[in-house]
Amino acid sequence: MEPVAHLIKVSVPNYLSDLPIPDSIGGWFRLGVKDWLSLIPPTAVLAGIGYMSYVAFCPKARKSNQVNRTINKNNPKVVDMVDVEDITEKTVFCRCWKSQNWPYCDGAHGKHNQCTGDNVGPLVITKK
Ligand code: FES
Repeated sequence: MEPVAHLIKVSVPNYLSDLPIPDSIGGWFRLGVKDWLSLIPPTAVLAGIGYMSYVAFCPKARKSNQVNRTINKNNPKVVDMVDVEDITEKTVFCRCWKSQNWPYCDGAHGKHNQCTGDNVGPLVITKK
């Protein structure tokens, strides 16, 4: 535990106090290349912490990771049942979650693939 305590109580404060942070706005313009380079690591760490906090606590950021953005969003889980008897000679099911005719494919995967470079497509079930 002592190395962690030393890191928090001594090493980090010493490192931060040695950073060339100016006392005025004009001081930022007088920083040299070496000063700016020394500010990159702590800036990267702060940016990383900020980004991880944003992803962890912002509902909008979490939503951007969701595959399903529009279909039955008021349900905790989207489950669809299709009777085998209802399947015609050929039934095409959506697997991209973009269809306006869920659970059937309406071709929206084509636009999605074109915009994102993805390669998703439908599930096609045929009768023999
Ligand atoms: S619209 Fe989703 S797979 Fe075709």
